Amino acid sequence: MDVSLSSLPTTDIDADALVVPVHTDAPAPDWAAEALASARFTAEPDTELLVPGLLDRPALFMGLGRSTEADANALRRAAARAVRRLADFPTVALGLAEGHPQGSEAAAAVAEGAVLGAYRYDGLRPPKPAVRSVTVVGPTEAKEAIRAAVITAECVNWARDLGNTPAGRLTPAALAQEATTAAAEHGLKVRVLTKKALRAGGYGGILGVGGGSDNPPRLIEVRYAGTNGRTVGLVGKGITFDAGGLGIKSGHGMADMRSDMCGGAAMLATAIAAARLGLPTGVVAVVPAAENLPSGSAYKPGDVLKHRNGKSSEITDTDAEGRVVLADALAHTVELDPELVIDAATLTYAVMHALGDEITGILGNDRELVAGLVATGEECGEPAWELPLYRGYARNIASPVATVRNDGGSEHADAIHAALFLEEFTGDVAWAHLDIAGTAFHTKSGDLHPAGATGTGIRTLVRYLSRL
Ligand code: BES
Ligand code: ZN
Ligand code: ZN
Repeated sequence: MDVSLSSLPTTDIDADALVVPVHTDAPAPDWAAEALASARFTAEPDTELLVPGLLDRPALFMGLGRSTEADANALRRAAARAVRRLADFPTVALGLAEGHPQGSEAAAAVAEGAVLGAYRYDGLRPPKPAVRSVTVVGPTEAKEAIRAAVITAECVNWARDLGNTPAGRLTPAALAQEATTAAAEHGLKVRVLTKKALRAGGYGGILGVGGGSDNPPRLIEVRYAGTNGRTVGLVGKGITFDAGGLGIKSGHGMADMRSDMCGGAAMLATAIAAARLGLPTGVVAVVPAAENLPSGSAYKPGDVLKHRNGKSSEITDTDAEGRVVLADALAHTVELDPELVIDAATLTYAVMHALGDEITGILGNDRELVAGLVATGEECGEPAWELPLYRGYARNIASPVATVRNDGGSEHADAIHAALFLEEFTGDVAWAHLDIAGTAFHTKSGDLHPAGATGTGIRTLVRYLSRL
């Protein structure tokens, strides 16, 4: 989508439709007052009114409540809803940030909302109509902030495409190919380890989980050097399909399990965004990609796997595969000597029981990092909440035959068990883990996304990295 900036009043912009904000505590524009009054439009938050022929073209009025409540999160959501509602109009003027006290930040939120809201995944169907070009009304100084917001939102949409692509098409090799293509386009370095290199390098977790599939696993590493000599490691779960392995899930339970690579897609997208934005801090994104399927060559309950860092895991549940592949990927990343490591993974049902599908669970060993991610997520409209990395539960993942076992013996507190397992592979680096099992893929549409992959985490991480 084309996004441009204008400091003209919304009504002076040449577009097929206009989007106009209305607040409960401020008078509506003169030209609209009568139409709004006769429709009894109250401007409560999350309300909207489409008036087809005012000023010769459709105007969509967005209720934003009190003007003090219309923060960046509210504007982003309103812009996204507006472009979806106006999908039949190729060009739209978005006046939501016109004269807003937050200036550039408000205009950037509107631009970001427009790009996120226009996203759709049509698969093999012909594309449906969508807004092609928007003009955001805002101050001239907003240009850079809008450019950054648009790039970030495009990277979110790229990750959404990967999450929505059927697993029959997005195998581990195909995910590696997508990463390679995007990295080449934007000047990042890529390294892909195939089965032979994984064997030679001792990546027993990735090989174990990927062993049940005809589509062999990969380890994908994408690197953006940055300019300040600092590097952050980003590790993302890349299970391109999770059938549960020999401990097979029900048909219903695996229906959306093509989304089990959304953490990996988020980390690749964040690295690409960092490069496109030219952020000072460098990024290395590492994605263990595998299919978790049952077959004669699948890993088995009772197997003991040896990981990249020499530690081992006893497999007590083949469906707890995410932590097993992440173990190798974390160990691999720590070897590259990053100053901190963040991982994202659709890891546990337990996090959904605790926090539902709109709040990401965060656990980690570094207070400042965890608190920073929670605060940044709040600013971006990606809520996250800390769960305790309670070491008392380490006894639940103790094994008589390996360093750790891969399930905690009960579903209770499994988000904590999973994080305690991962911690064994983080060396002594500052580390935070995002459990996005609830937030990565929604069966219903939300303000910022249609049903399917949400692209969660990328906006928070890009903003967090840009401040390092
Ligand atoms: N990929 C699933 C977790 C998941 C569930 C992600 C729903 C997104 C939506 C993960 O591999 C899994 O199966 N976890 C098990 C682990 C258990 C067997 C220890 C779980 O959470 O039940
Ligand atoms: Zn699983
Ligand atoms: Zn999984």
